[in-house]
Amino acid sequence: MDNNRLFIFDTTLRDGEQVPGCQLNTVEKIQVAKQLEALGVDVIEAGFPVSSPGDFNSVIEISKAVTWPTICALTRAVQKDIDVAAEALKYAKHKRIHTGIGTSPSHIKYKFNSTPEEIIERAVAAVKYAKRYVEDVEFYAEDAGRTDNEYLARVIDAVCKAGATVCNIPDTTGFRTPYEYGEKIKYLYEHVDAFAAGRAILSTHCHNDLGMATANTVAGVLNGARQVEVTINGIGERAGNTSLEEVAMIFKTHPDLGIHTNINTQKIYPTSRMVSSLMNMPVQPNKAIVGRNAFAHSSGIHQDGVLKNVSTYEIMDPKEVGIDDNAIVLTARSGRAALKHRLSVLGVELEQEKLDKIYEEFLKLADKKKEINDDDVLMLAGADRSDNHHIKLDYLQVTSGVGVRSVASLGLNIAGELFEAAATGNGPVDAAISALKQIIKRNMTLKEFTIQAISKGSDDVGKVHMQVEYNNQLYYGFGANTDIIAASVEAYIDCINKFKTPSAL
Ligand code: KIV
Ligand code: ZN
Repeated sequence: MDNNRLFIFDTTLRDGEQVPGCQLNTVEKIQVAKQLEALGVDVIEAGFPVSSPGDFNSVIEISKAVTWPTICALTRAVQKDIDVAAEALKYAKHKRIHTGIGTSPSHIKYKFNSTPEEIIERAVAAVKYAKRYVEDVEFYAEDAGRTDNEYLARVIDAVCKAGATVCNIPDTTGFRTPYEYGEKIKYLYEHVDAFAAGRAILSTHCHNDLGMATANTVAGVLNGARQVEVTINGIGERAGNTSLEEVAMIFKTHPDLGIHTNINTQKIYPTSRMVSSLMNMPVQPNKAIVGRNAFAHSSGIHQDGVLKNVSTYEIMDPKEVGIDDNAIVLTARSGRAALKHRLSVLGVELEQEKLDKIYEEFLKLADKKKEINDDDVLMLAGADRSDNHHIKLDYLQVTSGVGVRSVASLGLNIAGELFEAAATGNGPVDAAISALKQIIKRNMTLKEFTIQAISKGSDDVGKVHMQVEYNNQLYYGFGANTDIIAASVEAYIDCINKFKTPSAL
């Protein structure tokens, strides 16, 4: 066995997808899973099958769609969960059940009202039960970050003896410092025989609450872990998980560390764009590796240096992560073949009929904007996501200006019937939403509203993310349009379409 090979376990579709507003449908999850396969990840955590029929179905379909990576399904240390996970994995060519239980004092006391010894028994029973279905069983000790090392080693030793092949040590709350997390991994490596004997490997799973997820992950690897649990763009609950692209590029730019992965780094950027676009989750401009500014040198001194020799301020070539400045720019004169090629570089393969439809939309957008970039292309590819919506925006007209109240009139198509209303408001968005509320008479409150231009230029497509509260529940919506007022109304309508009963006026 190659002792320096680091296995990449991607949990974008499980831990990442748990983020409110980032939910994908099965078709979108398959698209991401196939892109992860092309990227070269070793394990895809495809979902938590017992949690919902949607998750169950996604694990089945992802298992059918991908060939090389191991497909992993999450469970609690509960027999029913394990039965359902095994069923969902039935088509996977390589399968893994990921089961586990909380091991920290607060989890044992408050979550399980249990004792340390009983937790060990439950952990061992779950691993043994999962082993009845699959050879490859991963165990997670939830909140291992805040679990005492000596007790954690007893838990991990017991589950390895029960047959666990991978032991996941999550810093669930993102609390540990790199030194502490590295020491924890080292302690486990030295106190549990299975690791040095090669019967099991240690896995890191770090959260970013204190901004230390990547540093903790690297510390874990340098102290003996050989699997890292990561997500694209570091997406994940709260401050997110360790980001795949950072870990992959750290080991690539530091060959002296002697660790290598199977990641085809040139697929990093297209994968990042795809995940960001499908999950409607913008990447912060200064995000390492994949942020818009990651390779932009703006200060005069830096620009001068880079022009003389790129190595002055650049530690990696943007091409290594798949950023190609020379990529053909799409314009209104580009043909279907160019659009198809760009989509395929971005991991989207389309049937002819859908390509024709997107091409028509592409030409309309290209008439409004001079250059069509990757984000636009991905947005167009996902634009029909609202085709099945019960409520659609039929038309919108707004007048606004300085020193006058804005006036909006709009038409909604609700299940084929046109409803119209007009209203004034404190600005164009307020007027348009007031008109909308005259048709959809629900007690809804706008909780969050962000507008983001996709790249540059006043002709750019604006993306709007919204949260609307209705019936004590938050709904997340998204809209994209060169007209930001229309994008805002589309985002609001997207929220309403997600209500349990969107049709009632
Ligand atoms: O953060 C965590 O502890 C987890 C486990 C369920 C693996 O995501
Ligand atoms: Zn997690």
